[in-house]
Amino acid sequence: MTKMKFLSKTSVKKLSGVALLRLDFNTQDDWRLKAALPTIQFLLKYAKAIVILSHKGRPMGFQREFSLKSDAQHLGEFLKRPVNFFDEFNLIHIRKEAESAPPGSIFVLENLRFMPGEAKNDREFASNLALLGDYFVNEAFAVSHRENASVCAITEFLPSYAGLGLESEIVNLSKVMGAAKRPLLMIIGGAKMEDKLGVIKFFKSKADLFLVGGALANTLLKLRGVDIGSSLYEKSVSKDVAELAKNMKINLPTDYRIDNGAILDIGPKTEKKYEEEIAKARTIVWNGPMGMIEKEGFAHGTNAVARALAANIRAFTLVGGGETVMAVKKLKIDDRLSFISTGGGAMLDYLAGLKLPGLVALDRKRKANRE
Ligand code: 3PG
Repeated sequence: MTKMKFLSKTSVKKLSGVALLRLDFNTQDDWRLKAALPTIQFLLKYAKAIVILSHKGRPMGFQREFSLKSDAQHLGEFLKRPVNFFDEFNLIHIRKEAESAPPGSIFVLENLRFMPGEAKNDREFASNLALLGDYFVNEAFAVSHRENASVCAITEFLPSYAGLGLESEIVNLSKVMGAAKRPLLMIIGGAKMEDKLGVIKFFKSKADLFLVGGALANTLLKLRGVDIGSSLYEKSVSKDVAELAKNMKINLPTDYRIDNGAILDIGPKTEKKYEEEIAKARTIVWNGPMGMIEKEGFAHGTNAVARALAANIRAFTLVGGGETVMAVKKLKIDDRLSFISTGGGAMLDYLAGLKLPGLVALDRKRKANRE
């Protein structure tokens, strides 16, 4: 049971100051930014001004290609209002600007990962950032698995709330963690087995079936003694992965689309079998493509799975992970799915039953407020 304070349930009287809003601009296109628009619009109604914090990529110090300048510009285009961008961390100056700005002003700070204190969850850096606002809103579920200053330590210095999107992530992800409708189907793809291991372990007894694709299926096929030719697979795997290969709830492809001796996608028979299982399920979680979707001709399996999910209107369908989300958006079927998580690693950690530091920080804050 979460103890954090949700923006949606907060008295608007408490929201009249400058809002310090943590977003996650870390995607190749603007979909995470678009997902944050309802919270921005909400704050625009009540806050004096909004100061936006985010990171992008994993820069080593200042690297121009990771600047948030163009993201600030896109945000302005979406909101149809000017957005001010600060390329320097002169926090006192920014605070003054935010305080004296006309109501409804929006400011975006440069990539926080240009500053060493961010990744170190440095308290001093966080306390300086906190000077920029009167309260803090975490609308960055996607980075809430990182112990970063603008996600965790900052909550020690300001009243802190979960944004509308973050609340929605918790509500929807919790649906599959608790008493989900059966059959519960997990569809797992992508490249790295170890990234998905936590989720598979958590759902090993809970899920009725797993459908696996992508390079991680190759790893399991190899462990089951199947000839995978020159396909990509992980040579050294943990004992846990070797154990999983023996689990018969885990369905692997039985035919493939091949290029130069390497499996690059699931084949038509597998596609049909996966579509049938998807049609029967009542709860479906999907993370990771079924093949190498970036290569022309190898997105069949991923597209078939996406369409089958959209067609199953009786099921609760939860999709996450950068490439998977891009695939469903490309097919324009995203509005026929129950929920699209903005989290990649964060979603996987949450579904593996781990406590996300950013959410723990919001919970802890609520407790401290009560004492
Ligand atoms: C993500 O895209 O998953 C988040 O923005 C976190 O990024 P990171 O993995 O570089 O910390």
